[in-house]
Amino acid sequence: MTTPPPSPVETALTRHAGIELPLICGAMFPCSNPELVAAVSAEGALGVFQPVSLTFVHKHDYREGVRLMRRLANGRPIGMNALIEASSRTYHERMVRWVEIALEEGVRFFVTSLGNPRWVAERVHAAGGVVYHDVTERKWGDKGVAAGVDGLIAVNQRAGGHAGAKTAEALIDELAPLGLPLVCAGGVGTPAEFVAALKMGYAGVQMGTRFIATHECTAHPRYKDAIVRAHEADIVLTERLTGVPVAVINTPFIQRMGLRAGPFARWMFRRRRTRHWMRTIYALRSFFSLSRAHGRADVERDYFQAGRSVRGIDSVESVADIVGRFRAAWHESFASRVH
Ligand SMILES: Cc1cc2nc3c(=O)[nH]c(=O)nc-3n(C[C@H](O)[C@H](O)[C@H](O)COP(=O)(O)O)c2cc1C
Repeated sequence: MTTPPPSPVETALTRHAGIELPLICGAMFPCSNPELVAAVSAEGALGVFQPVSLTFVHKHDYREGVRLMRRLANGRPIGMNALIEASSRTYHERMVRWVEIALEEGVRFFVTSLGNPRWVAERVHAAGGVVYHDVTERKWGDKGVAAGVDGLIAVNQRAGGHAGAKTAEALIDELAPLGLPLVCAGGVGTPAEFVAALKMGYAGVQMGTRFIATHECTAHPRYKDAIVRAHEADIVLTERLTGVPVAVINTPFIQRMGLRAGPFARWMFRRRRTRHWMRTIYALRSFFSLSRAHGRADVERDYFQAGRSVRGIDSVESVADIVGRFRAAWHESFASRVH
C-alpha cells in the first residue's frame, strides 16, 4: 500500500464516506471479491462489497468476510451494496440481517439498488451512517429523496451492469435540482474521464469495469483480456440475462443467442402477476451462469459483463497503480484551477 498525500479537494462524497479520493469501486456481482474491494479502500478510495458475491460466489461466511475486508483495508472505510428489491420475504429478511451485521462490523456507507431504500436509510442513519441510492432517472431520484437517502448514484447509458438510458450530462441536469450529492456511474475508465465527471459537477465517480481488469480481481484472465481488447462498439445490451438490459461484450456466444428476450418472456414481463416469476427465473439463471463463469475460461458460453468504459482500458493493472493515476490527475487538475 502506498501512503497517499491528503486529498486536495473534498467533495460531499469524500466527507460522507470518510475517504480521500472521490472514487468508488462499485459493487459487482460476481466480480466483487473481498481482496479487490479491500485493495480499493486501502488506497484511499471506496470499495463497495456485494453480499451475494461475498457469500455465494466467493464462499465467505458473511461476518467473517466483512471482517476480512476491514482488516485488508487497514481500517479504512468500505461500503456495502444492498439490493433491496423485495423479491421474497426470505431474501428481505436476509438483507436486513446483512445490513445489521455490516453496521455491527463498522460499515457506515451503503449503496441501495432497486426498491424503496427507506428502511435502509432509517436503520443506517440511526447508526450514524449514510446511504446513496442507485438511480437511472429523476423518478427514482424523487423516490430516494422521499426515503431520506443522502446521495444518488447516477447510472448512465455507458455503465456496466444494468445500464441507464441517459447520458452523464442529461442525468446531472435532471438530478441536480434534488440537492443531493451525485456520483457518476458509467463510462469512466481513465483519469481524464474521472476529472471530467468531477468538473461536470459530480461529487464522485463509481467505476466497475476498470476494476475487473486488475490483478486483485479474481475474474478469469480471459475475461480481463476481453475487457482490455474490447472497443466501445463491442458493448451491447442484452435482455437475455436478467430480463432488463445488461451491458456485455459482444462475444460469439452473445451473437448466437441474440439480445432480446423471447416473445413469451416479454409477455410474462409485461403482466404484473407474472413479472415476479419471470424475474425470479431470470435472476436464478443469471446467478448460476455468472457464478459459474467467474474465474473460468469459456468464451464460447459465457457472458462478459462490461461497460463502455472499456474504451480507455488497455492493460490489466494493480489497484494501487490505477488509484494512484486517478489521484495524480485529480491533484493536477485542482492545482491548475488554483493557479
Ligand atoms: C460485472 C458487473 C457487475 C455489476 N453488479 C452490480 C451489482 O451487483 N450491484 C450494483 O449496484 N451494481 C452493479 N454493477 C454496476 C457497477 O457497480 C457500476 O455502477 C458500473 O460498473 C459503472 O460502470 P462502468 O462499468 O462503466 O465503470 C455491476 C457492473 C459490472 C460491470
